Amino acid sequence: MRVTVNVNGTEYVREVEPRLLLIHFLRDELGLTGSHWGCDTSNCGTCVVWLDGTPVKSCTVLTPMAHGRQVRTVEGLEQDGKLDPVQDGFMQCHGLQCGFCTPGMMMTARWLLDRNPDPSEQEIREAISGQVCRCTGYENIVRSVRWAAEHAQTEEVSA
Ligand code: FES
Ligand code: FES
Repeated sequence: MRVTVNVNGTEYVREVEPRLLLIHFLRDELGLTGSHWGCDTSNCGTCVVWLDGTPVKSCTVLTPMAHGRQVRTVEGLEQDGKLDPVQDGFMQCHGLQCGFCTPGMMMTARWLLDRNPDPSEQEIREAISGQVCRCTGYENIVRSVRWAAEHAQTEEVSA
């Protein structure tokens, strides 16, 4: 079937099988490989993208469900050549080791900060509680999100 999906501000029209998962549409049809595919069982959260402004696990969304809607992926975090403070925060605070969970973590972090610009450690941990990191122990991820909250203006970062 034919779908039209707006991803990071660009409209894409593709013929897809109705069963195609959104994560595979993004990665295999559009070449947006920043979002990762980790488990296929809706457990890991590395596939998190925004659908109409809400984080979703894109391995649980059929591509036709995104027809006519807005998707934002980790590739859409950078604006006008400037990293989002969340991206800078992960760099500054070493919020990753292997990096596999990072795209999903950053999408949830940006969503949280848009609604709560000064989240507590507990609020950050709750926001990312549906996402698994097997490397960091989460400490530096939480620090990275706090760093982004404290450096909300992009001109202060990306040194
Ligand atoms: S690949 Fe989607 S939750 Fe793991
Ligand atoms: S940095 Fe490796 S899974 Fe999170």
